[in-house]
Amino acid sequence: MSDPVSSCTARLQLQEQEIRTLSAEIESLKNPQSLSPSPHLEQLRDENTKLKYRLNILKRNLQAERSHCSKHMMNVNLLLQDVFGDAIRASCPELDDPPLVVTPNQQAKFGDYQCNSAMAMAQMLKAKGIKISPREIAEKIIQNLPENDLIQKTEIAGPGFINVHLKRTFVSKLLSNLLLNGVQPPPLASKKKVVVDFSSPNIAKEMHVGHLRSTIIGDSMCRMFEFLGYDVLRLNHVGDWGTQFGMLIAHLQDKFPDYLTSSPPISDLQAFYKESKKRFDEEEDFKKRAYQCVVRLQSKEPEFIKGWNLICDVSRKEFQRVYNCLDIQIIERGESFYQDMMTEVVKEFEGKGLSQLDEGRRIVFAPGQSVPLTIVKSDGGFTYDTSDLAALRQRLFDEKADIIIYVTDSGQATHFQLVFAAAQMIGWYDPQVTRVEHAGFGVVLGEDKKKFKTRSGDTVRLMDLLDEGLKRSMDKLKDKERDKVLTPEELLKAQRSVAFGCIKYADLSHNRINDYVFSFDKMLDDRGNTAAYLLYALTRIRSITRLANIDEAMLRKAAETTEVLLDHEKEWKLGKCILRFPEILQKVLDDLLLHTLCDFLYELATTFTEFYDSCYCVEKDRQTGEVIKVNMWRMLLCEATATIMAKGFEILGINPVHRM
Ligand code: ARG
Repeated sequence: MSDPVSSCTARLQLQEQEIRTLSAEIESLKNPQSLSPSPHLEQLRDENTKLKYRLNILKRNLQAERSHCSKHMMNVNLLLQDVFGDAIRASCPELDDPPLVVTPNQQAKFGDYQCNSAMAMAQMLKAKGIKISPREIAEKIIQNLPENDLIQKTEIAGPGFINVHLKRTFVSKLLSNLLLNGVQPPPLASKKKVVVDFSSPNIAKEMHVGHLRSTIIGDSMCRMFEFLGYDVLRLNHVGDWGTQFGMLIAHLQDKFPDYLTSSPPISDLQAFYKESKKRFDEEEDFKKRAYQCVVRLQSKEPEFIKGWNLICDVSRKEFQRVYNCLDIQIIERGESFYQDMMTEVVKEFEGKGLSQLDEGRRIVFAPGQSVPLTIVKSDGGFTYDTSDLAALRQRLFDEKADIIIYVTDSGQATHFQLVFAAAQMIGWYDPQVTRVEHAGFGVVLGEDKKKFKTRSGDTVRLMDLLDEGLKRSMDKLKDKERDKVLTPEELLKAQRSVAFGCIKYADLSHNRINDYVFSFDKMLDDRGNTAAYLLYALTRIRSITRLANIDEAMLRKAAETTEVLLDHEKEWKLGKCILRFPEILQKVLDDLLLHTLCDFLYELATTFTEFYDSCYCVEKDRQTGEVIKVNMWRMLLCEATATIMAKGFEILGINPVHRM
C-alpha cells in the first residue's frame, strides 16, 4: 500500500470503525441499567472521560484526514457545512431537522463565509413554544463547533449571523494540493449516466441562432458533466421525420430523376426547400403527390428512404461545418430513430386507459395540465409530442439515464412540461430519483433589441455569422499589430480562438433564461467580461513564469517544497478566490446556469490583476533588467490561477492559445 491516498482511506475507515465502537461504549456507560451494581462507578466514570477524550482526538484526526488525504479539490463550502452541521445538531437537539445554511460572504470584510441558521432555528423553536434569541443560538452553535483546521475565527453579527474567517494554513495547504494534483473532481459515489439533448436543428431547414444557442449551452453542460466524471450521451435530436419530406422528395424526383443512381448536386438546400414549398402551395397535383410521398416514406419504401437519406446528407454536411468550427462532438439520433417506438408508446397509453379520442385525434391529459398532448393526429400520423414521449421512454429504459436534459428555447417549455407530466403519470420515472429537465433559454436579439436579422431582414445563416466573427477577430488582431509579432500559424490560431471563444462566451456569460443581444463589438472588446479579456489574461499569467525562465519541472518542485504564503492582503484574496472553483461547479450542476462559471472566471481574472499590481512576482535589476529574485510562492499563485482558468475554459469550450 504505497499509494498515500489508499493507505489514508484505509486508515480513515479503521478510525471510523473505532469511533463507532467508542461511541457505542460511551452510550452504554450513560445508561444506568447497563451498569452492573458494582462499587466501581467512580472507575467507570473515569474511563468514560478518557474514552470521550480519545473519541474527540479521533474525530479531530478524521477531520484532518478528510481535508488532506484526497487528491480532489475540496469544496470549502461543503467542508464548512459539515462542521456547522455537527455544531447545529449539538446545540439544538429539540429540532429534528435544523436548517443548515452556510454561504460565501459577498462582502469580504465580514468574513469569508456566513452561517445563517440561527434565525430560522429560533423561529422553529418558537413554534415549539421554546423562547430563545437567534443570537443565543448562534453562541451555542459556536460553542459546539468541533475541533477543525479550517476556521480561524468566528464572530456573531446583527441578529445572529455567524461570520466565518478561514485559516491561512488551511487555504495554503489546499492550494499546494491543487498544484500537486491538478484540478481533480470529487469522487462520484456511482457512475451516473446523463443524456443531453441539444443543438437539434431541422433537416432541410437552416440552422438558426436559436440552434446556435442550444449548441453552445448544451456542449458546455456536457463538458461539465464529463469533467465531473459522468457518463455523458450527447444527442442531436434532429427534426428528420416531418411531413415536409413528402414535398422535398416529390421535388427531388422531378428535378433529379436519376437521383437513385447519381447523387444530386444540391448545394443550396434552402433554395431547394423554398422551391418545393412554393410548388406545394401552388400546384394541386404536386401537393397530392407530396402527401403520397410521405405515406410511402413512412412505410419505408426503399426508393423513398434513399431520397430521404440524400436530403438528410446535404443537411448533415452543412451542420457539420458549424460543429467543426465550434469543436462540437455530438451523435445524431433524430426523430426518425424513434419511429417504431412511437407505435408502442401510443399502445401503452391506450392500454392503460390514459388517452382519449377527441375529434379523431388521440390525446393525453396529464394531471394538473390544462392542455393535452396529441399523440395521434386525425390522419393517423404521429406528432412532435409522440416522438418526444418515445425518446424519453427510450432514454429512461434503454439508456438507463439518471439525468436527462433538453436544451431548447423557452418557447418549448410547455411542450416539455406536458411530456414530463405524462411520462410521470404513466409511471416511467419518479422525479425524486431521475432528474428530467428542460433547460430553456431566451431569444437572440440584434443590437436594435429586435429579433436577430440581417440588414435585408433575412434570418442570419450560421456559417455567415461564424465567418463574420473570424473576419472581425482578425481585424482586431491586426489593429493591435499582433500580425507583426506572431507567426502566421500563431495568428491564425489566435483568430479562431478569439472569434469562436467570444461567440460562445457571449452566450454563456448571460443568464440563459434571458434574451440576449448579439453584438460583435461587445464580445470582441478586450475590456470587461468577455472571452477576449479572459484569453488575454490567461496568456499574460502564463507568460509571467515563462519570462522568469521557470519551467514545469521547477514549478512542480516548488509546489512540493514551497509553502504558498498568503500574508499580503491581495495574496490572501486571490488564494481564497481560486479555491471557490468547486463550489461554483456545484452550483452550476444544480441549476445548469453556466453564467455563474463565467462570472467566477472574470472575478478570478480581476482578482489576479489586483494581486499582480501590488505583489512583485519577480524582482528585476532596475538598470540591467536582470532577474535578481523570484518570489516562488507567488509564482505558485500564478500557476494555480492559470490552472483554474484553463479548466474553466475547457468547460466553456473555449480554446486558449499560448500567444496572442
Ligand atoms: N428540432 C427542434 C427545433 O428545432 C428541437 C428539438 C429539441 N429536442 C427535442 N427532444 N424535442 O425546435
